[in-house]
Amino acid sequence: MNATRDPVSGRPTKEEELEGFRVFGDTLVGWDAAVPPNEVVDEDGAPMQSMVGRAPDPRCPSRRAIDDPEVQALRRHLKANNGIRGLEICTADEVERATRIFRRDGFVVVRDALDAAHLALFREGCARVLKEILAMPGRDGRRYLAESGRLPHRYCYGTTSASRQMMHDLAWASMIDLPTTTPILKAIFASADYGVWGGGGDLSLPGAIEYQHLHTDGIDEQRDGEGRLAAYRRQEPELDAERFGDLPFRTQRLVMDRTSPGVTINFAMTDLTWENGPIREIPGTHTATSPPPKPEDEPEWMRLSTLVGAPAGSAIFRDVRAWHGATPNLSREVRALPSIEYSAPSRHGHHFQKTMPHELWQSLSPHAQHITRFIKQEPGLWPHGAGITTPLANGRRAAFERSAGKAGNANLVRTDPSSAGTVVRVFNHETDR
Ligand SMILES: [Fe+2]
Repeated sequence: MNATRDPVSGRPTKEEELEGFRVFGDTLVGWDAAVPPNEVVDEDGAPMQSMVGRAPDPRCPSRRAIDDPEVQALRRHLKANNGIRGLEICTADEVERATRIFRRDGFVVVRDALDAAHLALFREGCARVLKEILAMPGRDGRRYLAESGRLPHRYCYGTTSASRQMMHDLAWASMIDLPTTTPILKAIFASADYGVWGGGGDLSLPGAIEYQHLHTDGIDEQRDGEGRLAAYRRQEPELDAERFGDLPFRTQRLVMDRTSPGVTINFAMTDLTWENGPIREIPGTHTATSPPPKPEDEPEWMRLSTLVGAPAGSAIFRDVRAWHGATPNLSREVRALPSIEYSAPSRHGHHFQKTMPHELWQSLSPHAQHITRFIKQEPGLWPHGAGITTPLANGRRAAFERSAGKAGNANLVRTDPSSAGTVVRVFNHETDR
């Protein structure tokens, strides 16, 4: 074994670490003590100067080591307290119950959404892409190349793709229309005519000791009252009003609350446990118009409001408006939650990009073809940037522009310390609407 040890860290080499790499069960990856707590890198991979003296998670342990006393104390705390008490977990045939819980809480867990074959396919895809990222050399003694604007040991499959989505990958595309999830989506939207906006999903390596700040995945601008009323009527046809403006304010609020602009499904590749970084969701916040608390103000009960108990293969339906965030992964297991992102019928084509190859689209079910029609690239054209993975935002921008030529451009959205990552917004001109 000595022959394959890293001479500096004394750990197994990268090659050994990544041999037979999987995103479930114990792994050798992660826990890189060379990465300081709360370190965030810019679009070129350099530690961000604007973050010096500012800790995204002010309560995080001071060393990224599994045997560190502060990490051990956090482990004891999480083992005793982590997870929503009495978390309700539905089965896929409980469509009405799942929809009711979703509308009440802003999220719902549905177990066994993936059968054995789909779970295996998604795990393989997640491991394949993550292995590519982890194999890239880190900088200045770090073991891995960090993602621009994201906390250490965390990546997102969507934002690390130069097309901004994973819709070119069979593993993701195969999850768009499942017999376990489609009936629940149809019930939530009260329509079969919702759309797919994209797909990606976040992951944490073992040793991601920081809490990600609470955030929403989109702002509900609460415009188009008449359209929202029409969507609400599909749920409650007996509502007695012709125009949104005629409704009492309380009912107007209810119309907005009950017509989600978007639903993301995250699929659990592992059981979510107290120690492997389960996602936290704050019940009822899909109806909040005030922003979530900053990390320094977040109460402990919110940090513990996690989906512990969701088994591997579960689908976590999330209203994109609900406050949520990632939590520390203190285990030896990767926690990956790949996603498919759906949008309400009223938002068809709004900021959609052509990220799915025509040939892949042709292989999908008729319903999946219908709901992905706005993201399908033209025959014979490869979606710009698709299949190129890099954690660094400037690398992605360059890759997209190389791929698109005159047919597209990419705008770098400057890294915001309070954001969940540095987004490269991509625009293919030939499909602008
Ligand atoms: Fe998020």
